[in-house]
Amino acid sequence: MVVKNMKQDISTASRLSVAPMMDWTDRHCRYLHRLMSHHALLYTEMVTAPALVRGGAVHLLTFNPEEHPVAVQLGGSDPVELKEATKICVDHGYDEVNLNVGCPSDRVQSGAFGAVLMKSPELVADCVTLMQEAAGDVPVTVKCRIGVDDQEPTEVLPAFVETMRAAGITRMQIHARKAWLDGLSPKQNRDIPPLDYPLAHAMKEVFPDLHLSINGGIQSLEMVEEELTYMDGVMVGRAAYHQPYDILGAADARIFGDTRVALTRHEVVLAMEDYIGRHIAEGGKVAQITKHMLGLFAGQPGARRWKRVLSEGAHKDGAGFELVKEALPA
Ligand SMILES: Cc1cc2nc3c(=O)[nH]c(=O)nc-3n(C[C@H](O)[C@H](O)[C@H](O)COP(=O)(O)O)c2cc1C
Repeated sequence: MVVKNMKQDISTASRLSVAPMMDWTDRHCRYLHRLMSHHALLYTEMVTAPALVRGGAVHLLTFNPEEHPVAVQLGGSDPVELKEATKICVDHGYDEVNLNVGCPSDRVQSGAFGAVLMKSPELVADCVTLMQEAAGDVPVTVKCRIGVDDQEPTEVLPAFVETMRAAGITRMQIHARKAWLDGLSPKQNRDIPPLDYPLAHAMKEVFPDLHLSINGGIQSLEMVEEELTYMDGVMVGRAAYHQPYDILGAADARIFGDTRVALTRHEVVLAMEDYIGRHIAEGGKVAQITKHMLGLFAGQPGARRWKRVLSEGAHKDGAGFELVKEALPA
């Protein structure tokens, strides 16, 4: 299961990635996404270094071998703890370890993780230096914002990227908007601060040797293709979750030049049967998987009925794959 030395493959895979999203991009979601694209890079939800190192929560790292290439995202700000957490992740077989410097939630702020670290680039450099020591051949990457609070992005972002580069980081993901740490909720922080794509594009001009992905507000595969004319990679969050087939269904052909015939939406659903069966046999609930499938038919005839039948039926006792078949649009 452990696939190492994927540096080259991973940077190709990161031409299109699905963003880390708490409660959303769990292993079931990633398994589903992988059925639609062989190539896109898939990120886990954030796992905190203290949870792994002090809390022993290594079960959070379980993933299906089919998910490769798969990157784990860590949260933390203690270099030694992040080093230990990185070692644990690499031993689990992840293809990349990513550090979260973008998440503005309260819980994360109180532990001095996430976006607040935009204010402490030297500390982030210490973190990634030790993380890279532990990671060996496995790449360490950083997902950041363009700034926080009253920072001036045109000054802060290039300085931050340069500090990462000096610390040996070669690939980053830039969520192209600021985070406001006071006054905005995490959800508002994904919508209200304006996007600044030109600033992200400018980073590619200033740092042509780095592999830079843009994130934030990418809604379609056409937008992915457009952004790839400026950037090395595009990371898609909410659109990939809510309309997975629109983003991933044709991605292998259009983004990665893989002309194998992709599964249709119906085939993707049918391909989940064994997976759902195994999950239920192990004591799991169908709803834990079907919640990620609600958007599969987004924009298609029958999409509303599909969502309704799945969401109403999934919590009933004994619900299994028959429910999914019942919900399948004609
Ligand atoms: C439900 C949800 C959970 C998220 N959790 C994380 C997270 O754990 N780590 C992280 O770096 N970003 C997280 N994000 C932010 C996304 O990774 C992404 O940066 C953001 O949604 C902007 O991209 P988008 O406009 O394509 O959705 C989350 C976003 C959502 C919607």
